[in-house]
Amino acid sequence: MHEDMDPHSAPGREGHGRTWAKAILLGEHSVVYGHPAIAVALHDLRMEATATPITGPSHLASLGYSGPLASSPQGFACVARAFEAAREFAGRMDQSFAIATRSDFPHERGLGSSAAASGAIIRAVLDACGRSASAEELFALTQMAEQVAHGRPSGLDAAATCAPGPIRFQGGRMTPLSQRIEGACLVIADSGVHGSTRQAVEGLRARYEQDAQGIGALIGRLGELTTTAEVALDEGEAPALGAAMDQAHAILAELELSLPVLDRLTAAARGAGALGAKLTGGGLGGCIIALAGDPGAAGRIGSALRQAGAATTWTYRMRTSEIREAERWQ
Ligand code: MEV
Repeated sequence: MHEDMDPHSAPGREGHGRTWAKAILLGEHSVVYGHPAIAVALHDLRMEATATPITGPSHLASLGYSGPLASSPQGFACVARAFEAAREFAGRMDQSFAIATRSDFPHERGLGSSAAASGAIIRAVLDACGRSASAEELFALTQMAEQVAHGRPSGLDAAATCAPGPIRFQGGRMTPLSQRIEGACLVIADSGVHGSTRQAVEGLRARYEQDAQGIGALIGRLGELTTTAEVALDEGEAPALGAAMDQAHAILAELELSLPVLDRLTAAARGAGALGAKLTGGGLGGCIIALAGDPGAAGRIGSALRQAGAATTWTYRMRTSEIREAERWQ
């Protein structure tokens, strides 16, 4: 923004922040109950934020809302909280900003848009204020916003949307994972149905409280499958990872977190040669992921998914990573 052209612009520099969409490979929901989860940041699907110092009330343009930040509806309370948390952290509650986010992926589809938008806004505000923050501080600030969005989030989305490589997440702690599967791709397909993570998490909690033993056993099984997947990634065993994904989808469906459209899309992916397929994220809508052995298979699976009704598909090339490299957090 050029200062001469905007009567509301204020001195100071424009800040920028970037995060990414995330895909949970294994462990959504069970992570809320203390089990491990594995997720990757989808580095081709970016969320970018700018924070421009202005005079007058702060303005927000993010996730489909555009207007004064102070009167943003409840659905945008998480990004508004991210903004306030970052200003507080920077000690700049006196400075107003125009905040804008732009993303390559839709929101409310299990791809972590709320955590990604919050994380990008926090980074943009801190950048505009010339304030640096450690990875732990950025995580804690993003979690403040996520608590507004989801009540008691595990922290997985806040961690995964800024991770340089695959991560394992358990009990609030993230560790980088080694990934030795060569040439494989994840095909991500949007069902077109909005999912509400809060509703999915609260629904499962209610069922768990009614039948802690039965539901607890299924959740425990999801935790075991995550460990199987971690070994499969480390040993470069794509078929074993795919089998764990298929089993996890069946359990998530038993936990009433799937929908017929998600079952249909995962079946279409398997029919087109996927090594495994499952819903990803909160469920009850949103996206599925399918594991393809190579880019050619990913192309065939993507076409089959679109024919089966997917609104959009994306292909993510799985990059191998050694733990030593991945330990460089940004
Ligand atoms: C949502 O992306 C992941 C869930 O496990 C919720 C959470 O971890 O807080 C469903």
